[in-house]
Amino acid sequence: MEPHEHPPLPPAVPPVTRRDFLFKLGLGLNVIAAGFVGIPIVGYIASALFKPKAQQAWIALGEIAQFPPGETRLASYRNPFTTPWDGATADIPCWVRRKPDGDFQVFAINCAHLGCPVRWFPQSGLFMCPCHGGVYYEDGSRASGPPPRGLFEYAFRVRRDRLEVRGGQTPNLSEPV
Ligand code: FES
Repeated sequence: MEPHEHPPLPPAVPPVTRRDFLFKLGLGLNVIAAGFVGIPIVGYIASALFKPKAQQAWIALGEIAQFPPGETRLASYRNPFTTPWDGATADIPCWVRRKPDGDFQVFAINCAHLGCPVRWFPQSGLFMCPCHGGVYYEDGSRASGPPPRGLFEYAFRVRRDRLEVRGGQTPNLSEPV
């Protein structure tokens, strides 16, 4: 290069046109929008795949002498899968039916329709739901009204004269446990 010559100019940067700018802006906004829509969908699918199994455990309900043959009585247990600050909501009521032959049936208190607590009426030998008039026979089977099935039943066992139920998660139509 001769001493009087200028160094070569760097190649010119092409100007950003309005069209390019808007295209890139639109692309960026679409990526952000896809993130907002996609993250909850991925979370939903992941939670369905890794959903824990229903939490159930054997829980003592009381001495079997508390439940005379031929009677249905209200009992309750403390849900072991709750936290200390759940307070009284962790006390789960259930109906214990002791048949005349000494065998048991333990019913969840929540109606199989929309979950209202059912009540036992010994005079009529029926469980009745105060919300929409669902009625169940003493063995828990559906008698009338909107419930699509009978009462949910807990598994139970007798250990050292104590009645235990397999409780924890509240039974419902999708998971009758
Ligand atoms: S919740 Fe019991 S009949 Fe509807």
